[in-house]
Amino acid sequence: MLAGGAGPGVQKAMEIVVALGQIYGARDLVPVTSVQVSGVSYKNLGDAGLAFLEEWAAQGAQARVPATLNPAGMDLSDWSHLGFSPDFAQRQTAVIEAYVSLGITPTCTCTPYLVGYVPQFGQHVAWAESSAVSFANSMLGARTNREGGPSALAAAITGRTARYGLHLDANRRATAVVDVQCPVRTEADLGALGYQVGRLVRNGVPYFRFGARLDWQPGSWVWKTFGAAMAASGAVALWHMEGLTPEAEMGDVVASGAHSFVVDDLGPAYDALNGSAQEVDLVSIGCPHASLAEIEDVVTFLGGRQLKAALWITTARATREAAQRAGLVERIESAGGRVVADTCLVVAPVASLGHRTMATNSAKMASYTPSHSGLSVRFGSMEQCLEAAVTGRWPAAGR
Ligand code: F3S
Repeated sequence: MLAGGAGPGVQKAMEIVVALGQIYGARDLVPVTSVQVSGVSYKNLGDAGLAFLEEWAAQGAQARVPATLNPAGMDLSDWSHLGFSPDFAQRQTAVIEAYVSLGITPTCTCTPYLVGYVPQFGQHVAWAESSAVSFANSMLGARTNREGGPSALAAAITGRTARYGLHLDANRRATAVVDVQCPVRTEADLGALGYQVGRLVRNGVPYFRFGARLDWQPGSWVWKTFGAAMAASGAVALWHMEGLTPEAEMGDVVASGAHSFVVDDLGPAYDALNGSAQEVDLVSIGCPHASLAEIEDVVTFLGGRQLKAALWITTARATREAAQRAGLVERIESAGGRVVADTCLVVAPVASLGHRTMATNSAKMASYTPSHSGLSVRFGSMEQCLEAAVTGRWPAAGR
């Protein structure tokens, strides 16, 4: 491949894989069983990114392992109803077509593990979306570094990645032990905790101990939000939790010389993530992309009430279709909300859709939105966010 025998597109991909291996001192390459590619929204790629992809595709390169895509900048079928411009839609469609011609499946989701792409414990993969990397490493025990868009695409085309970082046992041990000594009662509290710990440990590997303080039984969807927060405020790609994650109970999981931290107050994270807006005109649920259980929770909480603010539940297309079959999409739409596939409110041009303030139950969304989209943000639990969707105001009793 490196010598060009498999064509120029494959040669370019192998050059990227080998260059990264040399930079990080990898001994060899390792085959990967799946790839997840980021860099999909035309809002971020622009014309230069689109031309780069089209040129690579024209060189005849093809993914040789199952490979999926991160969210795009719009719902690929419902963009016009949602207010996206035809010009943006045409360019976004061209990006997707370039990826499809490279052999990438256009799942357009940050939760491939919710739609059938579930790596097994110990498998090596090359995933790019930071929240998905966190989930694959931590909750599933798969092995991936946090790939960039081009390096993930190169891994898909070569079927290999360089063996360094989290592909090696030694780098999977915890570099920090975090004792949580304050109550954690909602997914927003977990997101705030993740946000705070990400800032402390940066790109380290935290090991969490909750003692008796996590007396609430979170649904499984909550852990994707927790990992996403750590990946957003720091660059945490792997975390362990006593009694939860598969590598936590394996011997020697904590590296010698690991730092120790105590978290006894989530106030600093809530303060950092919350703006002062009282009126809310957009509510975002589904960062990372919502599971079916999460969409069910929204319907249960709304209980048929009508919404004053816009509500976008972002999810994978396959999850949206399952929610549609279960009658959930109809109930959300009849309340005035939307279940939006293929995109997310960070990579979509939401300011151009006329929104100015957002409420979200995702610490990742709350931390990215002011800088990416210019909206003022309120961060709290799903219940607080949905209450804001019903009344158009951030609930007074919230943090
Ligand atoms: Fe997914 Fe977008 Fe959040 S890519 S993790 S919904 S910021």
